Parts: sequence; C-alpha cells; structure tokens
Amino acid sequence: MTNSHSNTPAIETLRWTGANNADSPAGFLDGTLRLIDQTLLPTRFEERVCPRVEDVWEAIKTLRVRGAPAIGISAAYGVCVGLQTLFRAGEAPSEPIFFARLAEVTDYLASSRPTAVNLFWALDRMKAAADRHRGEDPLALAERLLSEARAIHEEDRLLCRAMGRFGAELVADGASLLTHCNAGGLATADYGTALAVFFAAHDSGKKIHVYADETRPLLQGARLTAWELSRRGIPVTVQCDSAAAMLMRQGKIDAVFVGADRIAANGDTANKIGTYSAAVSARYHRVPFYVVAPSSTFDLTLPTGEGIPIEQRDPDEIRRGFGPQTVPDGAAIYNPAFDVTPHELITGIVTEHGVISPVDEEHVRRVISPERTCRGN
Ligand code: MRU
Repeated sequence: MTNSHSNTPAIETLRWTGANNADSPAGFLDGTLRLIDQTLLPTRFEERVCPRVEDVWEAIKTLRVRGAPAIGISAAYGVCVGLQTLFRAGEAPSEPIFFARLAEVTDYLASSRPTAVNLFWALDRMKAAADRHRGEDPLALAERLLSEARAIHEEDRLLCRAMGRFGAELVADGASLLTHCNAGGLATADYGTALAVFFAAHDSGKKIHVYADETRPLLQGARLTAWELSRRGIPVTVQCDSAAAMLMRQGKIDAVFVGADRIAANGDTANKIGTYSAAVSARYHRVPFYVVAPSSTFDLTLPTGEGIPIEQRDPDEIRRGFGPQTVPDGAAIYNPAFDVTPHELITGIVTEHGVISPVDEEHVRRVISPERTCRGN
C-alpha cells in the first residue's frame, strides 16, 4: 500500500546550476550555488544565489541554509565557488597557488559554524580529493572538486532514503510522534533524517500524527518542520517546546525522532537546544527516543559528548526574536544553539546501515566505519 502523497517532489534545498564539465570550455567556472533562503519560510519561498564563497559562508552563518547534512553539502559547493577566483584572470594558477587557495577557502568555510561535524567532514573530503590528484592541471583538479561536491550531494539523497526505510520499521500504524527542530528535506539533499522516517512511514500507507516542537529561539520546528509535513499531507500540530513533557504525560506520544549535528563515539548526541529536555522527558515517561543520522554525523575522534563544541549565538535571537524586544536591556542572555543528549537516554540511532541499539561505544563501532566519519575538527 502506498500513499497518494508519495509522489510529492522532495524539496530542492540547494542546487548547483550552470555549465557541466562536459559542455563548457570553462568547466565549472560558469556554475554557482543556489539555495532556498530558509530564514524567509514559511511565508516566502525564495532562492538565494551564492556567487562568492563569502555568500556561502554568510548563508551558513545566518541559517539561510542549515541542518547538518545541508551545511556540509553547501560547504563542498562553497569550495568550488571559492576556487573560481583563481581562474577568472585567464591565466591558470600554479599548483602551489591552487593548494594555498584551497586551504584558505576550506579554513574560511570551517569558521562559519562549529557544531555540525558534517561541515568539517565535507571539507575534509574535498581536501582529500584534491590531494589524491596532486600533479594534475589545476583546472582539472578544480573540476574534480566539483565532481566530489556533486557526489557528496548525491550520496546524501541515498542516505536519506536508507534512513527513512530503517526508521519507518520502528513506527506503528496510527502512531503519534514528536520531533524537535527541523531534520527534514530542508536540512539535507533529499527528504531528511528524522523526517525521512515520517515520510517513509506515511508513504507506505501508515497513518501518523506528528507533534512538532516549535524550537526556540529560531522556530525551525514551527517554520520549517510544520511546513514540510503539511506540504506532504502529514497531520502536524505545533506546540511550545515546554509542552512536550505534558503531551508525553497525557500518553499522546508513542516515540520521539530527532536529527543530530554531531555524535561522539559513545553515542552522546549534539542536536538543537531542547533535545536533551525532550530526551529526559521521554525517559521519565517511558517513551522511546530515537536519533536519526548518517555516518557523516559521527565524530569517532571524540570519546564522549563532553568534547563537542557548542555554538553560542547572538543574544538578539532571544532578546528580540521575530518581533519586539522581550528581554530588558539589563538582563544577560544565554543562547547555546545545541545541547548534548547522553547516550543512556537514546533508545536507538537510525543510520543508513541500520539501527544502533543499545547505544554505546561498542555498538556504534560495530556499525560506523571510521573511514566514513570526520578525521577530527
Ligand atoms: O541550527 P540548525 O537549524 O542548523 O540546527 C539543526 C538541527 O539541530 C538539526 O536537528 C540537525 O542538524 C539535524 S538535520 C538532519
């Protein structure tokens, strides 16, 4: 049985447009990165063109593009955009100049946001691809990097589908599910990580209802998750983050599914601030709590979540939010973008290879291959 909404097209969160390597003498030089400006959703749907690496950096920093996998893919294309300046003068750069610019661009993009490890994983992959082909003509090297970015993009689509399939098996027909932040198509190349589970369950004909935490302070749950679920015909209710515990107490939540920004070797998981509270509430109310993430979100160089860098964001996100000032000038503001949920609170981690459960270092290492993870940032 399949659902009538199974043909709803996935959102094209970001895309590379312009010449293909094969049909332009200038190779990838004519191309550029375009992404949906997520700061405008749900009331305005607009694409933003990023012709310079500075535009890609700004888009990541200000959350025009956000969500761990989408940040990684954008950064990979950002490297290509950043290399274009080398070829604009007409004369091909030398190999040392090419690699110096590559280092400059990757370091710069790495400074945009600290927590989502997919950013560093993607930049690592781009540098490794260039290193493998040292000695080739710089334009050929640059074209190889565009192919690598395209590969990262394409692979993410397949990973989303695989996670969706594994996760949907954990969802019963008629289930009522809670999620936090946005781990959907807008955060990936296809239809998400946590939301992939909901989409796959729905597409297979299961009736589900989703409770989306609004996700203070930037409202990714209210603005983005509710928008994605509604456009695919999945019933969704938005509540304040602080209402989640009461929903669980009322027996209205059968399971929680969230995404992740970085997962340590023991399974401790960084995700949007408020995830930890949801996990504590879920444990208290005996509701299963699942994290959904691809291998590229694991950081096996960190033994525990203690070492995960947590981004602190602008106090104005809390002081003014989306409207008038709501905090007096004299009050200090604490605005961490992420928190870490200890592995003991996680029932299972759904990956592209299957479900890790119980969640501990031994079971993580059985499923996640170190070659598919970040080498340390
Ligand atoms: O600050 P954001 O919006 O980038 O935070 C995003 C999240 O916390 C997501 O849950 C996470 O990146 C997983 S996305 C598949």
